[in-house]
Amino acid sequence: MNDQELLKVLKTRRSVRRFLPGSIPESDINKIILAASWAPSGTNHQNWHFIVINSKAIIEALSDTVKKTVSDYAAEIKLDSARHGFLNYTGYFTFFRQAPHVIAVVKKPYDSITQKLMRRYDLPDNFLTSTDVQGPAAAIQNLMLMAHAMGYGTCWMTGPLIAREKMESILEIKSPDQLMALIPLGKPEFLPPAPRRKDVEGIVEYR
Ligand SMILES: Cc1cc2nc3c(=O)[nH]c(=O)nc-3n(C[C@H](O)[C@H](O)[C@H](O)COP(=O)(O)O)c2cc1C
Repeated sequence: MNDQELLKVLKTRRSVRRFLPGSIPESDINKIILAASWAPSGTNHQNWHFIVINSKAIIEALSDTVKKTVSDYAAEIKLDSARHGFLNYTGYFTFFRQAPHVIAVVKKPYDSITQKLMRRYDLPDNFLTSTDVQGPAAAIQNLMLMAHAMGYGTCWMTGPLIAREKMESILEIKSPDQLMALIPLGKPEFLPPAPRRKDVEGIVEYR
């Protein structure tokens, strides 16, 4: 694959929010997880875990708990327009209900060698930000790109984390592991138009 072909794959991946009925073969899902496993991670710690949820009952239980959490919070918002705005927006937290598969991405704890050393000698370690998140985030991107290359649709979702603890309990994820994102996966009903990107000149500077 040359650079133009790679760029085409990167540019044509979309966040898919509508799925056709029908599941995906497990061999394809394993290929997608294999792609995730080739992401870089701090000290090659690979501090990620993927729960592939095929069970409609579990997907619905997750979606129900997000919906309930949202409506409980919405009830606290006194201003009608703000409450309606919040409720409209939270459709983006629950559409995974319609997907044939949902991948729950779990972040496992990661303490870098530097962190361990600095802590042991009582030195500051707060210069390291989110090192535990960065590997799993790279894995998610790999996963989504592989799914796209195979003709499947995905969407990186953190909105449902509004009900993170309840979803962790449904999925039996125990602390210090943490649910990081839900990725619905399936055949796309359609690919939405590409949201505009900032120009390169606006996001880069050379010194
Ligand atoms: C960390 C992260 C969290 C996101 N959470 C949600 C979400 O909860 N619900 C949703 O519909 N889209 C979510 N998205 C998708 C973004 O809205 C989407 O990537 C962005 O609008 C660009 O569109 P594209 O992915 O089609 O290029 C999330 C994306 C990222 C990277």
